[in-house]
Amino acid sequence: MLRGPARVLFTLTLTLALLLAFGLFAFGCKKKAPSGGHAGTAADPFVIGMSQCNLGEPWRVQMNDDLAAAAKERPELKIVWKDAQNDSLRQRAQVEELVAEGIDLLIISPKEAAPLTKPVAEAFQKGIPVIVLDRAVDGDQFTAFIGADNRKIGREAGRFIAKKVGGHGKIVELQGLMTSTPGRDRHDGFVEGLGKQDDVKVVFTADMQWLEPNARKEMDSALTTNAQVDVVYAHNDPGAHGAYLAAKAAGRTGIVFVGIDALPHEGVQYVKDGILDATFAYPTGGKEAIAMALDLLKNKKQLAKQTTLGTRLYTKDNVDKGGEEIP
Ligand code: FRU
Repeated sequence: MLRGPARVLFTLTLTLALLLAFGLFAFGCKKKAPSGGHAGTAADPFVIGMSQCNLGEPWRVQMNDDLAAAAKERPELKIVWKDAQNDSLRQRAQVEELVAEGIDLLIISPKEAAPLTKPVAEAFQKGIPVIVLDRAVDGDQFTAFIGADNRKIGREAGRFIAKKVGGHGKIVELQGLMTSTPGRDRHDGFVEGLGKQDDVKVVFTADMQWLEPNARKEMDSALTTNAQVDVVYAHNDPGAHGAYLAAKAAGRTGIVFVGIDALPHEGVQYVKDGILDATFAYPTGGKEAIAMALDLLKNKKQLAKQTTLGTRLYTKDNVDKGGEEIP
């Protein structure tokens, strides 16, 4: 039996040892990659967290459908869906929730670059593979990006419009959300593609934030302040359609409308109906993201950091033949 100072010393040492052991254990738990650690079998599928910035726009519903269709074939995958309802802060919180829930991989289509960069980087730094779809984040703290070349699409739209106006024309540009990367790239590319001609001018520019009702309102203003409008370049088909409705309501005819997305039941149909003069395909990347997720989780395969998807141009001349590829 220990007594006096020896006993105190023994108790202290024991307490310290216990504290140290507990600390090491807790540290070990924390250090472990927080990935879901699922087996990737039908009984214990890999869990993919999918953070979608909104489902209010048809193109985003298509992206989720494409992801779901590709994942349906793979019983070893399960997707947990989040819809941020077009709110960057909500999307940020949802990414953090997914990470805390223990996902094996994150797919994200971010609303805006700046506010989503940090949560994406944090997930990536915790060892969770992250696939960024369509809209980019800043920096390189993610596993892979999949999306079409928005600058190129903008450039092609600019070239199409330059040809169409033949040296004389007044243009309205209805931009997508300029805090998202496709908006900025579709604008920069357009300026390049349109080139400089003395009598071709962009007379009205507005950020309609990808939304048809906003585009319609902005087009009302454009028409009120401009007696002549020859072309509308909208960064997406809902925007082009909103502008078309505004022009129609105002009785303004002879305007060329160009959009982007080319969903079969949306932009492509508008071209068939003579509402749009052109639309450019903007693939969702859903199928490619699932193939990549499988490569990462199952085959542990090294991936390309950047996958660039192609586009197609649809006009009244080629729409019945499925459009034409743009090399
Ligand atoms: C849908 C959407 C599409 C557009 C894409 C750009 O939210 O606005 O219409 O092509 O996002 O990220």
